[in-house]
Amino acid sequence: MKTLIRNATVALPDEIGQFNVLIENGTIIDVSASASATADEVIDAKGLHLIPGVIDDQVHFREPGLTHKEDLLTATRACAKGGVTSFLEMPNTKPTTTSVTALHDKLAIAAGKCLVNYGFYIGATPTNLAELQNATRTPGIKIFIGSSTGDLLVDEQSALERIFGETTLPICAHCEDESTVRANAAALNGGKDVADHSRIRDNRAALIATKRAVDLAERHKHQFHVLHVSTAEEVEFLRGTSDLISAEACPHHLFFSLDDYARLGTLIQMNPSIKSKADTEGVWKGLLDGTIEVIATDHAPHTLEEKRQPYPKSPSGLPAVENSLALMLNEVAHGRCLLSQVVSWMCEAPARIWHMKGKGAIRVGYDADLVLVDLNKTVEVRNEDQLTKCGWTPWHGTTLTGWPVRTLVMGRTVFLNGQLDESQCGSEIQYSR
Ligand code: DOR
Repeated sequence: MKTLIRNATVALPDEIGQFNVLIENGTIIDVSASASATADEVIDAKGLHLIPGVIDDQVHFREPGLTHKEDLLTATRACAKGGVTSFLEMPNTKPTTTSVTALHDKLAIAAGKCLVNYGFYIGATPTNLAELQNATRTPGIKIFIGSSTGDLLVDEQSALERIFGETTLPICAHCEDESTVRANAAALNGGKDVADHSRIRDNRAALIATKRAVDLAERHKHQFHVLHVSTAEEVEFLRGTSDLISAEACPHHLFFSLDDYARLGTLIQMNPSIKSKADTEGVWKGLLDGTIEVIATDHAPHTLEEKRQPYPKSPSGLPAVENSLALMLNEVAHGRCLLSQVVSWMCEAPARIWHMKGKGAIRVGYDADLVLVDLNKTVEVRNEDQLTKCGWTPWHGTTLTGWPVRTLVMGRTVFLNGQLDESQCGSEIQYSR
């Protein structure tokens, strides 16, 4: 099966220009094909930009065990709509993905259900070193150095030393210092208003844990990825770290700040917490100067009923996969960043950092995971249009310019102008380590 995408403005690794892209059986075979090349399917993409599919390296898709919030089908419908062609999912499901058996069980569920390509982290516990050493079908190890949704937590130094010292997979971590968070919570009697969430999970908690994890990685010479950087102080600190260290920012830390609690309340209760406007600016600065290489969503759906409980009963987390690319393209439309930067943050960097085979770029021999975007399309985000099972978004009522209009996974169109094709599944992501 051959597909020709012609007349698009194509984001190649080193230039953006007019090219015709030829795909055969799910693989890109030519990036400068003739407009009249023979193909079974011809997609005329005049007026559109073609970019690599988004790779979201931090999502919580809730299956198994928490499927009243989301499942792998509803989540990957949202991915297809949002231009996300591959995702890496976190281990805080039920059961937790903390053994090779649980990892393989999750991969087996995904094989029959995911509309896009999938990978799953293995979660660290204080005692599962052998599982972390034996896992291969995974991008890497996730450590909750501070606790969040679920009960995964490793904050004892001796356990952390062993994980960094005696495993080989890349590691990523949720960095909020547990003892600081607990002391802050005690001082505020657990907190009574959602704004207390940012006082409990404060800038110090984030910086202490990030420094601690980076110190472990540097001493043990271990590849390490700092998830969801939320403070200007972490960005400053990360500027001086080695090539072993990469870092990531999330849309909610780029677009929301403390002022938004008045409007959105617990809908934007997140771990790490939403921070000040100065922090938001600091995280943007880190992205623009290359200190932060990746944008991922931390898509973490909870039902509205759960979210509307009074703080601190309300859970932390918000959904984002179906709007993340549009949120960033809207910044391109407003001149804050370039399309090439968005492609670097959301496609190329995650593929490189997690050693994904054949992903993250429009290159001959790479998988045809592609998104056609209309940089001029303007749409208001609305709860009623969301495909995520939880059915709401903190961006409800926001008008964004720049939207994915067609998503291809391994050469197959899975989303086109509002319609999904659910006839086939995505594939397990492969890693070259
Ligand atoms: O706010 C969050 N929610 N942060 C996390 O790290 C986990 C996530 C969840 O799974 O709900």
